[in-house]
Amino acid sequence: TAAAVALPALAEYPDKPVTIIVPFAAGGPTDKVARDLAEALRKPLGGTIIIENVGGVGGTLGANKVAKASPDGYTLLLHHIGLASASALYRNLPYKTLEDFEYLGMVNEVPMTLIGRPNLPAANYAELAKWMEANKGQINLANAGVGSASHLCGLLFQSAVKIDMTTVPYKGTAPAMNDLLGSQVDIMCDQTTNTSGQIESGKVKAYAVMSSKRLSSGPLAKLPTADESGLKGFNLAVWHGLYAPKGTPKAVVDKVNTALRAALKDADFHKRQEALGAVIVNDARLAPAEHKKFVEAEINKLTPVIKAAGQYAD
Ligand code: MLT
Repeated sequence: TAAAVALPALAEYPDKPVTIIVPFAAGGPTDKVARDLAEALRKPLGGTIIIENVGGVGGTLGANKVAKASPDGYTLLLHHIGLASASALYRNLPYKTLEDFEYLGMVNEVPMTLIGRPNLPAANYAELAKWMEANKGQINLANAGVGSASHLCGLLFQSAVKIDMTTVPYKGTAPAMNDLLGSQVDIMCDQTTNTSGQIESGKVKAYAVMSSKRLSSGPLAKLPTADESGLKGFNLAVWHGLYAPKGTPKAVVDKVNTALRAALKDADFHKRQEALGAVIVNDARLAPAEHKKFVEAEINKLTPVIKAAGQYAD
């Protein structure tokens, strides 16, 4: 018989560092959520939490690393809407999204913004629309690879404006932002966790918030939504969740979920995340079963939309 995997008894877990895999480069929006969350998880979960960035292939390398990790609770995944969009974009992922993970609960929702290089000759969305018409065929759109949130937003944006752009993939939107600031690429969709500072300091051009509502407060509240700017019905926010490999003992899943619920109540976590435009999830999706149901519904919602926009997916 196969030797039983020696799993820790609950009382001991965790009795060594817990690694949270971030499937994108350090310093980007996913990394920022993970590091903020790790800080808030330390007390309720106990022990040490290590962040490991495993970038590449739109976040699917990192996701696969966790899907294939030992189901002992010591390797977790912090991921976002890209987990759902990748399942629609790749014909044969090395993992099964709904079967190869334990769903540990949702974390937050982060607005997406449309930004441009500092010297792009368009001060607002109307001028950007004119510039895009005049530069069809020469527009470079940065993203974090097929399967990332920035890729999904870029795909839906190209489909909405009916302009095919050259997409430039990076291992995350932190390196992509460096090139945008250096005017190596023209535009990018990226989350406020990574763009609010650059927008507020005027280092990048800001054109729209891609969710259905404007940000409720702060300097970004004046940024119109894509819908207001003419892209009727455009609505994309980036939700984040926590995952473990399938087969992680229920007692460990419950312990991490309990710690997550406590972490999401942490005042510092709230302050830091809200300052970056993130909205903490505080509803049924905090429960593993509801988290999984939500992701399944997102896959079912996004798949036809992505297929319809498919001509823009590289
Ligand atoms: C994404 O576009 O999916 C994220 O921004 C990638 C990242 O966190 O760098």
